[in-house]
Amino acid sequence: MNIHKVDLTISAVNPKQYPKTEFPDLAFAGRSNVGKSSLINKLLNRKSLARVSQKPGKTATINFYNIDDTIHFVDLPGYGFAQVSKEEKRKWGNMIETYLNTRQNLSQVVLLVDSRHKPTADDVMMLSFIRAVCPRAVVVATKYDKLKPSQREASLKLVIETLELGGEDIIIPFSSVNGTGVEEFWCYVNEIVLENGGETNE
Ligand code: GTP
Ligand code: MG
Repeated sequence: MNIHKVDLTISAVNPKQYPKTEFPDLAFAGRSNVGKSSLINKLLNRKSLARVSQKPGKTATINFYNIDDTIHFVDLPGYGFAQVSKEEKRKWGNMIETYLNTRQNLSQVVLLVDSRHKPTADDVMMLSFIRAVCPRAVVVATKYDKLKPSQREASLKLVIETLELGGEDIIIPFSSVNGTGVEEFWCYVNEIVLENGGETNE
């Protein structure tokens, strides 16, 4: 996809701040440090649009990125990070839940899981929230570059089995380092934009 303009519309903490736009949201959820912000940067070919950190818990607001007035990419706060206080965790949980339950424009929440590990209980729970609002699951298996070719098949199988992915669901192996999955992901984004009556600029 040929992108002309990307803006961080807003870093929101409550629904009143969500952008009032007609086009769809594509949201990204996943454990802290799984690679959500890196994936957004890679897809948009921007080095540091979304803040990336080795320290988990970097993204603590709901960040809306406007892509050419056709779609918002929405970077949700990461969950499952042990080092934040209970109070902080509750706040982030509420923020994600409110977004999922109230956002009219939401077309899909993409779940990111680390391709090297079995999805956690938090991932399984997150997917059940996603399934409650989206007809199918879209899962991105991140850090795919870190797997040896001999490990790939078994790793994806473990993700598929643990998350109980089925026929309608989509799983995309992805690497923000070498670009694996970028093209496949954009094909999928184009489908969403077209389904919502928008125009792609491919
Ligand atoms: P929070 O904002 O805390 O929720 O984290 P996040 O999910 O946005 O993760 P982020 O993109 O900040 O990445 C966390 C760390 O993983 C950084 O050190 C990244 O460089 C690294 N990383 C992310 N994606 C990849 C990948 O595909 N391959 C490799 N090798 N490292 C990655
Ligand atoms: Mg982040």
